[in-house]
Amino acid sequence: MGTAVANAFLKKDLTVTVWNRSPHKAQSLIARGAHHAIHIDEALGASSLLLISVLDYSAVQDIFHLVTDGHLDGKTVVNLTNGTPEEARKMAAWVNAQGAAYIDGGIMVTPELIGQPNAFVLYSGAEDSFRAVESTLTILGSPAYVGEDPALAPLYDLSLLSAMFGMFGGFLHAAALLRSEAVPAAHGTPMIMSLLKAMIELFPEIAHEIDTREYPTPSSNNAMMATALRNVLDGSREQGVRDDLIEPVWQLFHQGVQNGQAARDISALVPLLFMSHSAS
Ligand SMILES: NC(=O)c1ccc[n+]([C@@H]2O[C@H](COP(=O)([O-])OP(=O)(O)OC[C@H]3O[C@@H](n4cnc5c(N)ncnc54)[C@H](OP(=O)(O)O)[C@@H]3O)[C@@H](O)[C@H]2O)c1
Repeated sequence: MGTAVANAFLKKDLTVTVWNRSPHKAQSLIARGAHHAIHIDEALGASSLLLISVLDYSAVQDIFHLVTDGHLDGKTVVNLTNGTPEEARKMAAWVNAQGAAYIDGGIMVTPELIGQPNAFVLYSGAEDSFRAVESTLTILGSPAYVGEDPALAPLYDLSLLSAMFGMFGGFLHAAALLRSEAVPAAHGTPMIMSLLKAMIELFPEIAHEIDTREYPTPSSNNAMMATALRNVLDGSREQGVRDDLIEPVWQLFHQGVQNGQAARDISALVPLLFMSHSAS
C-alpha cells in the first residue's frame, strides 16, 4: 500500500521521499523519481508531511523508536495504518507530545485503486491540520473527514470492514452450500447479488430505526428470520457444511426473540450487541 501511495504522488510530479524497513522494496519508486531516505530521520527532514502505511500500530511504534528526538517537531503525521480507535487515540497523544499534528487515516480501497475516481480514504484528527494537507491527500482518493477525535477514522474503518467481512462470510457460506450439491458458485452468484442489492437498499431505513431506537413491527420480523436462520443451520449440517459462520447470527436473532423483540425489525437487535447494558 505504501508503494501505491508514493506512486500516486509521483504521478502528480510531487517530490516524494520514501523509507521502508526493507530498503530494497523502495527500488521501483526510486526508479520513478522518488528520493530514498536511508534513515527515517532523513525522510522526516525532507517534508513537513509524513505519511505512514505499515502493517499495524506496533510497526508504527517500531519506526517511531528509530526517530531521533526533536525530528517530529512541527510535522504533520498522517497514519494510514489500519488499527483500533484506542490505538489511534494513544498514537495521537504520543505524536502531539513530540510537537507534531496527528491525522489518522483509513484507506478503503486496495492498492490498485489508489488515486482512481472511486477511491476514498477516511481521516480524523484536528480539522485545521487536516485542511492544511487535504489537497495533497485528495490525490489518493476522495477524503472523507469524519471528525476531530483521531479515533473516529478507525471507528468508521472497522465499522465498514465489519459490514464487508460479514457479507464475504455470508457469500462464502452460500458458495459452500451450492458446492455441496455440485452447483457452481457462478450459477448462484447473480441471484445472491440481486438479493444483496435489494437488501442494501433497506439500510438507510434500518439505520434510522437504530438511531431513533424506534423499532417497527414489519411482516419480515425477527421471529421469522430466526426460524429461517435455523433452517440455514440445519440445512447446512445436512449438506455437510460447517455452521459456525452463521450460528452466531442465528444466536443474535434467537436472543432477540427471547428478549421480546420477536415481532420487531432487525434494528431492535443492535442493543443486544453491546457487552454492557449501559452502552446500548
Ligand atoms: N492491501 C490492501 O488491500 C489494504 C487496503 C486498505 C488498507 N490497508 C492497510 O494498509 C496497511 C499496509 O498494508 P499492506 O497491504 O501494504 O501490507 P504489507 O504489504 O504486508 O506491507 C506491510 C508493511 O509494513 C512494514 N512493517 C511491518 N512490520 C514492521 C515493523 N515492525 N517495522 C517497520 N516496518 C514494518 C513492512 O516492511 P517490510 O517491507 O520491511 O516487511 C511493509 O512495508 C495495513 O494497515 C493494511 O490494513 C491495506
